[in-house]
Amino acid sequence: MEQLNPQSVLVTGSNRGLGLELVRQLVKKSNPPKWIFATCRDPAGPRAQDLKNLAAEHPQIVIMALDTDDPTSIKAAAAKVTDCLKGAGLNLLINNAGIVKISSLETETPENMAETYRTNVIGPMMVVQVFISLLRKAAKQSPLKGMSCSKAAIINISSEAGSITNVLVWEMGHVIAYRCSKCALNMLSKCQSLHLAKDDILCVALHPGWVQTDMGNTMGTPPLTMEQSLRAVLRTLGRLSEKDTGTFINWEGDPVPL
Ligand SMILES: NC(=O)c1ccc[n+]([C@@H]2O[C@H](COP(=O)([O-])OP(=O)(O)OC[C@H]3O[C@@H](n4cnc5c(N)ncnc54)[C@H](OP(=O)(O)O)[C@@H]3O)[C@@H](O)[C@H]2O)c1
Repeated sequence: MEQLNPQSVLVTGSNRGLGLELVRQLVKKSNPPKWIFATCRDPAGPRAQDLKNLAAEHPQIVIMALDTDDPTSIKAAAAKVTDCLKGAGLNLLINNAGIVKISSLETETPENMAETYRTNVIGPMMVVQVFISLLRKAAKQSPLKGMSCSKAAIINISSEAGSITNVLVWEMGHVIAYRCSKCALNMLSKCQSLHLAKDDILCVALHPGWVQTDMGNTMGTPPLTMEQSLRAVLRTLGRLSEKDTGTFINWEGDPVPL
């Protein structure tokens, strides 16, 4: 099975950057999902205007509020998604929202460390806890054999900056809290994969490349455009199967050392 064909997808942090480009490329596929739950912190605010413009042209996109730091907002989003799906499950959950704070070992603060950990690690953990029943439902309802992103999957958008072996772009910025948070996210993905294997839910940590976004540009001059990164990511998601669950891979599907 080499084709990405989920009926429903939820993306966190989809109002700008990689999340917005992901929604844009999903909806422009020849076989777009029936439901794209494009979530963001503040759908009414000016930072969601590009997403709203896109949704105005594509009825599959349902914009909803979801602040990954706020359990109440995650639960409210899950209730709305459940209503929309009318008994169907959620096939693909993409934990994309993330933050970085510029820091070095000597300037890092407990406050930055806690905030970064809350958004980049605790957020994805809570989102999965709240949406797990919808993912299980999708896995049970699917006629597809094995694991796939078309059936039931969690993709945690991680970073090679959190690879202990590679420590990507150290010379560009030490960003201690960010590196530690992504390293922890990789472990969370592994734990999710072990726990959810019995339910046929695929779990992967994925490094999207160093990409030209607000975040990517804070570290220098990234080589990849959002369009290039996400085109490869979607191709990779279409190829994932049970052999990949619990792994850490990059946008092209190549393994990244932990
Ligand atoms: N760009 C890169 O080179 C690169 C490399 C490796 C990994 N990544 C990862 O890719 C993901 C997306 O990054 P990006 O480059 O697109 O960053 P970005 O342009 O800074 O966008 C970050 C997104 O996350 C959202 N967000 C932040 N905190 C949130 C919260 N508490 N709840 C909900 N949404 C929240 C932001 O929403 P607001 O508009 O409300 O702030 C925004 O939509 C991140 O996980 C990042 O770590 C990026």
